[in-house]
Amino acid sequence: MKENIQTLWQEIQNSTLANPQDLENFRIKYLGTKGIVKELFGELKNVPNDQKKEVGQLLNTFRMQVESFFEENKERLSSASGGAEKLDYSMPGNDEVIGSRHPLSMVRSEIIEIFSRIGYTVSEGPEIEDDWHNFSALNFPPEHPARDMQDTFFVEKGENEMALRTHTSSVQVRVMENSTPPIRTISPGRVYRNEAISARAHCFFHQVEGLYIDKNVSFADLKQTLLYFAKELFGETATIRMRPSYFPFTEPSAEVDVSCTICNSKGCNVCKYTGWLEILGCGMVDPNVLEASGIDSKVYSGFAFGMGIERISQLKYKVNDLRLYSENDVRFLKQFTSEF
Ligand code: PHE
Repeated sequence: MKENIQTLWQEIQNSTLANPQDLENFRIKYLGTKGIVKELFGELKNVPNDQKKEVGQLLNTFRMQVESFFEENKERLSSASGGAEKLDYSMPGNDEVIGSRHPLSMVRSEIIEIFSRIGYTVSEGPEIEDDWHNFSALNFPPEHPARDMQDTFFVEKGENEMALRTHTSSVQVRVMENSTPPIRTISPGRVYRNEAISARAHCFFHQVEGLYIDKNVSFADLKQTLLYFAKELFGETATIRMRPSYFPFTEPSAEVDVSCTICNSKGCNVCKYTGWLEILGCGMVDPNVLEASGIDSKVYSGFAFGMGIERISQLKYKVNDLRLYSENDVRFLKQFTSEF
């Protein structure tokens, strides 16, 4: 019996179970109700009494070995077949949804990139502003009607008047207060105006405003800078024109149109058959503004400009409703892909 067990164990160890069928045959042959292990236990009663204990132990060990041999092979075969299932090459791939950047972020980055190439840094400031930085330092006297140009959301009225900034010119005041010229900076950011929401107006939008202050800065520098910007943004054939305008913080002031890139200035419904699209406001920084921020207006001069990112994005991507930008409808958003 002892030898019998040993040969059986040898035989088992030399056998290979290659598939679930082999495994099942093995189980029936050795561990089944009529299997070899059971049979051997049955034969135990024929073993002479003085050997019973020894052979009994041997048989127990043998049974355990056979069981673990079976379990190991079962494990191996099931993980192999599981693996094979996971690697079903005929299955269609998972549809990964790739996000895209918001068109306003793309245009903002592009504007920043264009100005950074000519030495402009980016400056940011708070969205809740005091009266000084949003109005007074920018040459809006307390009762000046120009304050009505921008309908303001006030957070706190009275002495410590606080409001949602109506433009990012407020950031430029902060930069002027905290640095000495030369200053070359752009301030991108969200601004708020109390307007009814429609396809053409929203209660918040985004701006990029620029400021350049140094000795001998002239209106010619402003024109050249904006021409460079228009060509970079709308293409080499773009041209600009300036129309006189008014802002409390610049003198003289102008509004800038870019030649309509949609119809090549031939006239279309986007440019309302004028061949021109209005893109920004600008002017030479009023000496009062320089002085209010602690810059000597007899030594330094500068220019400023400001544009709406929504407006530029509308022209670039032909978006005709401002509300689309803040509704986060993926059908709108997924149309935009970009290098910026
Ligand atoms: N701050 C102005 C606005 O919000 C834009 C502007 C900036 C105009 C700088 C002139 C110079 O409309």
